[in-house]
Amino acid sequence: MPNHQPSPEPTLSDHLRRLIQVSGPLTIDRYMAEALGNPKFGYYTTQNPIGAAGDFITAPEVSQIFGELIGLWCAETWQSLGSPSPLHWVEIGPGRGTLMRDALRAAGALRAFRDCANVHLVETSPVLRECQREALPDIDVAWHDHFHQVPHGSTIVVANELFDALPIHQFERTIRGWRERMVDLDTGGDGFRFVLGPVSAAFALVPEALREAPIGSVAEVSPASVSLMRNIAERVKHYGGAALVVDYGSLESRPRDTLQAVIDHGTHDVLIAPGSADLCAHVDFASLTQTAQKSGADVWGPVLQGEFLEELGIHTRASQLKRAATADQAEEIDTAVERLTEPGQMGTLFKVMAIGSPGMRAPVGFAQSNSQTS
Ligand SMILES: C[S@@+](CC[C@H](N)C(=O)[O-])C[C@H]1O[C@@H](n2cnc3c(N)ncnc32)[C@H](O)[C@@H]1O
Repeated sequence: MPNHQPSPEPTLSDHLRRLIQVSGPLTIDRYMAEALGNPKFGYYTTQNPIGAAGDFITAPEVSQIFGELIGLWCAETWQSLGSPSPLHWVEIGPGRGTLMRDALRAAGALRAFRDCANVHLVETSPVLRECQREALPDIDVAWHDHFHQVPHGSTIVVANELFDALPIHQFERTIRGWRERMVDLDTGGDGFRFVLGPVSAAFALVPEALREAPIGSVAEVSPASVSLMRNIAERVKHYGGAALVVDYGSLESRPRDTLQAVIDHGTHDVLIAPGSADLCAHVDFASLTQTAQKSGADVWGPVLQGEFLEELGIHTRASQLKRAATADQAEEIDTAVERLTEPGQMGTLFKVMAIGSPGMRAPVGFAQSNSQTS
């Protein structure tokens, strides 16, 4: 009798297995890009993973104050740029749209800014675009797949927890020199394992100083991050504008393996069930800084997120909100502010950097930080 059982739905693992069978082990960059962004099976493409009920919580979801302060930062930076009109106000990787919703409410206080700012969201996930549409029902938004599709002109860019989601390559120093970490099928052919292979062209991005790291060291580079930062910096240099990047990561490039998978607020094996876990890596702020400077933009920071939010007035805003709050709500506000600012929590793990047109004065939040020019 022929078997008429329907074959099980293919998964991202099936797709990756076929890719490896056909073309050999995948660079981690390719594995990450497929796991997060595959049009049919990717982690971000198929679901909304952000929030208490999802896999992780981001700063805009911790408190409305985060987005409000960033909205005010954008309005104030626009004024210090000479109030260019029209302005492209861009968020890249806007998640559920919460940051932009809160930023728009706060920036609405500066009528002239709101009147000239056209909102652009750069988002690859159709599911998250739908969340953004719901979060911003009355706003005229232009969505784009890529930052370079935003029309030319003066631009202010915000990117919170975007760069950590952009794919990386990993290289390992062995007794035979540097080799690239890749993902291959395991011996049974069902699961995946790491193997080493010849280095790809991305190795050129590993800083000279890191190449002398001890045997066993892992170096990470992100061509996707470098390319996006170059695009942002060239735009603000050419058309005027600024960008604010918030993410977790290190101030210096150093050898380390920071690739991790996150499910349900905890870490998970990177190679198990790709497509159902968030894959992310620490952001190399030194590399972003050098890239922006080489493209001719000025850079401020990175500063610690806690210091940045304090300089922007997080405690004053929290006090305002608490005046109209119940005792329970006031406690929630205090807990959220601690989470965003305290050392050991997001206050020191997360860093903030600004990129701006050459010669621009230090944006608010970076008073203690010298501008770094190329
Ligand atoms: C970790 S979430 C952060 C979301 C939001 N910024 C927040 O703070 O809640 C990463 C976001 O970047 C988007 N994303 C990932 N890769 C992207 C890319 N190459 N271009 C634009 N957006 C991307 C995801 O779909 C998601 O919206």
